[in-house]
Amino acid sequence: MTNQQPATRPANPRFSSGPCAKIPQFQLDMLSDAALGRSHRAKVGKDKLKAAIEGTREILGIPADYKIGIVPASDTGAVEMAMWSMLGERKATMVAWESFGAGWVTDVVKQLKIDAEIKEADYGQIVDFAEIDFDTDVVFTWNGTTSGVRVPNGDKIPADRAGLTICDATSAAFAQDLPWDKLDVATFSWQKVMGGEAAHGMIVLSPRAVERLENYTPAWPLPKIFRMTKGGKLNEGIFEGATINTPSMLAVEDYLVALDWARSIGGLTALQARADANAKVLWDFCEKNDWIANLADDPATRSNTSVCLKFTDDRISDGGAFAKAVAKKLEEAGVAYDVGAYRDAPAGLRVWCGATVETSDVEALTGWIEWAFFATLEAQAAAA
Ligand SMILES: Cc1ncc(COP(=O)(O)O)c(C=O)c1O
Repeated sequence: MTNQQPATRPANPRFSSGPCAKIPQFQLDMLSDAALGRSHRAKVGKDKLKAAIEGTREILGIPADYKIGIVPASDTGAVEMAMWSMLGERKATMVAWESFGAGWVTDVVKQLKIDAEIKEADYGQIVDFAEIDFDTDVVFTWNGTTSGVRVPNGDKIPADRAGLTICDATSAAFAQDLPWDKLDVATFSWQKVMGGEAAHGMIVLSPRAVERLENYTPAWPLPKIFRMTKGGKLNEGIFEGATINTPSMLAVEDYLVALDWARSIGGLTALQARADANAKVLWDFCEKNDWIANLADDPATRSNTSVCLKFTDDRISDGGAFAKAVAKKLEEAGVAYDVGAYRDAPAGLRVWCGATVETSDVEALTGWIEWAFFATLEAQAAAA
């Protein structure tokens, strides 16, 4: 039987894990209301920044007493400003099970040189939160974008912890439940589940995080773009839309449009349901085929956004080259862009399943993955 290309193609081949697909039916003219050429400190600009903050609170269900800020440098900026501003008051625990978490470990241990216990797990696995001392400050990533492994829930984070939890939630926010009472700092970027732009990060602070900021001064100097306090008090302006430096009003408009779309489909529940449905298509596909599997070992930890897949067929001679060839075939056929595994992750595919992706596109993609897999096997046999 010859290996034929499927008849149905994904209408949108954008399955990148960041920047992620824009909202369905996105057109640039949806941004025509942007406050372009206006000061972000004028009423028009400030109102939009405030609407972005309050829209985030509304859709994510963030408690009224938590502070939400728009900060420079995407999610990385938000995580770095939290770590540089708050860590060092007590011992830290750095938790990582893939590349981004590992990056935060390096920063804390090698740059900030903080006394930290490091807890790591291999790609596909997760650190057991029951083994973490939450009286230390704990830094972790909710959804490991490069391994497709997520924290299943916050049950093992004690309510009466003495330390702060600092959570990089960038590929989880808007698609997975985030237990706000268990997160003292949560960060994310607009470029993930909302399909926004990457310029700015968001930082969400619990009252305990604010207390830390107001009562602890790190021993190291803090650059202006990391400073959240003024005269020992929280700089409240940042959390009301008076950003530290100039934001892109085009990126802000784009986020507001994405928030409107989220509202229009039914808010957080609908966003999560879309990601769940997308990921399930791939999980079911793995169940049906013995040559492909989820990189996440424990089903409870499987990501519904960055779904990572590995090829498990014995006939594959060079796993890395094989997976790259499959991703190339999918890209060349114009059916899936940017689905190769992350550069530091095990060989395989990574398919973004966040809320902006249509389930019918993931369904169509599975046929093409099958086609590309067998075509690559044939090419490998022919070359042998
Ligand atoms: C878990 C995680 N943390 C941090 C980042 C960095 O995000 P940004 O490039 O938006 O700063 C990413 C980007 O993919 C990520 O997936």
